[in-house]
Amino acid sequence: MESNQLFCYKLKFKVLIKSVVYIETYGCQMNFSDSEIVASILTENDYEITKDINCANIIFINTCSIRDNAEQRVKNRLIELRTIKKNRPKTIIGVLGCMAERLKEQLMEDEKIVDLVAGPDSYRTLPNLINIVSDGLKGINTELSIEETYSEITPVRYNSNGVSAFISIMRGCENMCSYCVVPYTRGKERSRNFNSIINEVKILVSKGYKEITLLGQNVNSYKYEDVNFAKLLNIIAKIDETIRIRFATSHPKDLSNELIDTIALHPNICKSIHLPVQSGSNHILKLMNRVYDREWYLERIRKIKSTIPDCTISTDIISGFCGETEQDHLDTLSIMKEVGYEFAYMFKYSERDNTYAFKHLKDDVPEIEKIRRLNEVIKLQQELSLNSNKKDIGKIYKVLADSISKRSATHLSGRTEFNKVVIFEKQFNNIGDYVMVEITECSSATLKGKLVN
Ligand code: SAH
Ligand code: SF4
Ligand code: F3S
Repeated sequence: MESNQLFCYKLKFKVLIKSVVYIETYGCQMNFSDSEIVASILTENDYEITKDINCANIIFINTCSIRDNAEQRVKNRLIELRTIKKNRPKTIIGVLGCMAERLKEQLMEDEKIVDLVAGPDSYRTLPNLINIVSDGLKGINTELSIEETYSEITPVRYNSNGVSAFISIMRGCENMCSYCVVPYTRGKERSRNFNSIINEVKILVSKGYKEITLLGQNVNSYKYEDVNFAKLLNIIAKIDETIRIRFATSHPKDLSNELIDTIALHPNICKSIHLPVQSGSNHILKLMNRVYDREWYLERIRKIKSTIPDCTISTDIISGFCGETEQDHLDTLSIMKEVGYEFAYMFKYSERDNTYAFKHLKDDVPEIEKIRRLNEVIKLQQELSLNSNKKDIGKIYKVLADSISKRSATHLSGRTEFNKVVIFEKQFNNIGDYVMVEITECSSATLKGKLVN
């Protein structure tokens, strides 16, 4: 019997098992990592995790609030879940994560099917909250903490490919970028105990993982006692030199020379830095409270390129922020060209309640103009990505195979140390293998290649 069938069977006949939980995750990597912590807390308390929603009697939606459309997606999903609640009224529906933190009780008032609401720092109380709901009440905990890092909890990697894993090394953010909801949904910045991170790396290595991504909203401001992020990377890189180390997301203000030198020093620290610029205009950067200006950012890029010449750089960009003029927009296009980003996540500004921008600035770029500017940003990025990928044709890269290609079952997908996706034909190799691939063709999104010995 398949394990999921077994869960369903247990569910039907109410044998042995306390409850079966299905977790659906939206938002950033940190949220996905949090879902693994939730899975760990629940399994410790005798709950089972299922990948099949139809087998679950508890459904958790781990949510994101970063832009309005992220919240709309979740609301639409909750509408779909009404059918399950109607057919199986005893099913507990819980909303976790940033939307839970932002909307609190209101979420239960607006969405009648929601029984439980838990913010990002309250996951240890989930078993209690479930008990409260089982007694016929509503369960809510949205208390933020100044110290919770879930440090000793070993995540249950229920969605893992067995090759790549995330480790959260810090939580929260207090940078207060004027557009951003994260400081309100995730609370104060705090770094996780250094020894617990090292232990988790060692556990992953012993389980055969090949790639570890260190996560934080502001990963490079990590500091635990006298260990800063550069020192942490330095120690982790030496644990096993065959393990690739990645990290996200770095704030430009904390990208120190020590950190750049550390990345350069270790062959297994991937040569790829996600360094969101948000805008190329000093006027807008100031309104955004990003605390660096264009010149400072470009100086950091020069330092990276002079120390690690092949390092790829990616970014986040917001189009149409409050007060953005055509010239500000052109400044963003010009910084994109000047840096020559390999990749970008691009968004149009979405006003968020309670942020500084919501309270004190005017969301005055018309929607149609935001869309036009965003489209220009996207078009330029596609050109930059394509140019960068074309330069890889004929080169040979060491690729870590991490999945079957989405387009072809006979091909594998993997990444170079520069964080580029490479598709190649599956031969004797498997997911989790390092292979040498010669790049033969490309699009703006992917490289294709053939295996070489
Ligand atoms: N802590 C990270 C990422 C935070 S959220 C960092 O500072 O880089 C990911 C991205 O979402 C941000 O970098 C920003 O580009 C975008 N974002 C955040 N708030 C937004 C908003 N209100 N509207 C549009 N995009 C937003
Ligand atoms: Fe938001 Fe800025 Fe913090 Fe990133 S650094 S999470 S954009 S407040
Ligand atoms: Fe979204 Fe919260 Fe992450 S708002 S981007 S899930 S920190």
